[in-house]
Amino acid sequence: MVEISEKSSILQGTKIISLSDSISVVTKKENELWGAINEKWGFIFNEIPQEFLSKKKYENFLLARKEEEERKIRLKSKPYHYVIEPTNICNLHCPLCSTGINAETRSKGTLTLEKFKILIDQIKDVALELYLQNWGESTLVKLLPDMIKYASDNKIFVNLSTNFSIDYSNEYLENLLKSGLGKLVIDVDGTTQEIFEKYRIGGKLETVLKNIRTAVKFKKENNLKFPIIASKMLVMKHNEHQIDDFKKLSKELDVDEIELNNIQINPNTAKSWLPNNPEYRYASYDKSRTVEPCHWPWSGFVVNWSGDIAPCCIVDDSDSDFGNIFEEGLEKIWNNEYYVSARSEFSNNKEMTKFTICNMCKNDTHNPNLFRVGDTFSITSKSFVKVKDNFKK
Ligand SMILES: C[S@@+](CC[C@H](N)C(=O)[O-])C[C@H]1O[C@@H](n2cnc3c(N)ncnc32)[C@H](O)[C@@H]1O
Ligand code: SF4
Repeated sequence: MVEISEKSSILQGTKIISLSDSISVVTKKENELWGAINEKWGFIFNEIPQEFLSKKKYENFLLARKEEEERKIRLKSKPYHYVIEPTNICNLHCPLCSTGINAETRSKGTLTLEKFKILIDQIKDVALELYLQNWGESTLVKLLPDMIKYASDNKIFVNLSTNFSIDYSNEYLENLLKSGLGKLVIDVDGTTQEIFEKYRIGGKLETVLKNIRTAVKFKKENNLKFPIIASKMLVMKHNEHQIDDFKKLSKELDVDEIELNNIQINPNTAKSWLPNNPEYRYASYDKSRTVEPCHWPWSGFVVNWSGDIAPCCIVDDSDSDFGNIFEEGLEKIWNNEYYVSARSEFSNNKEMTKFTICNMCKNDTHNPNLFRVGDTFSITSKSFVKVKDNFKK
């Protein structure tokens, strides 16, 4: 058994365990300056290192919290949690991901560096954290290290989740490691190829491990404080017996952190993927759900590769978009009819001129009555979305 250090933390289906004696980013606990959070409120908030914080960001964050508490439907504050998708193309076929099953949810493409810079220029003063993936594999994008460098030069803490199952050149990996990336989270959903590829269809565990070793080596050789390197396991029925092996392997790989994540699924068709251990299972798939007002319409902003805006990252459906940032800009979109209608769902102040996906979902994201994309957890406003490969375990 690998011992869980005192720096471990648990929130919203993610358990983060710190293995590193040096710098480590753990989930924020309650009553801290940058966000007293609890299970009912908030994202899995990383402790943003000092070098990425500023007075302006703090002021915006406080105002956003106040406006959320007051359930304002038109906001003076800007979002502070961002998701930008460099591409929605992927090399793998994960069966519970709408990209993995080739669902026809939106057109495929890649964000250009020029457009990425336009986005960063709009958000740099307020962005506490930027997740650099949504529905694809971001490391397929050649200029990804340049994108990260631009964001980190503008003092934005960037978090990248990747399948890492690609034969990168050493130059690409070195550029990625030296880009100023804040956190690198790598999927290791099994410790043997047989188990790994049950979910990561098309992936090669050997390649992932080789890339992790190279990344750890580059980090050490260059004496880099960032990125925090984390290995992550999505805990499912077929791999839950490997949790201890996964922890052991992660120690051997010398990563800084381990993440154990609950999976999300289509509760009508894909419960067979859920692990038996209730510790790694959202209880809301098994019993009645308590539903809190959604946090996203007051704090988060999701930009797809094309600039189309989704209200959160569980929605993969172009018909449910709230606008296009390259056509309208953040400021206009953030208080447009879609956002005002979405906030109205969770507020006593009502102004519902549009029926948005938020008015369907109501933050009851595990509700079996919502329309889903195949076996995946993605919700959609369409009663049926065509999928080309819907893999079953
Ligand atoms: C759609 S993926 C895109 C990024 C990258 N391709 C990857 O897989 O890491 C975004 C995140 O969702 C996670 N993910 C994939 N399938 C999931 C599931 N069924 N439940 C919860 N998270 C999932 C991935 O591990 C990743 O962290
Ligand atoms: S989860 Fe990630 S790696 Fe798997 S198909 Fe989706 S985008 Fe690709």
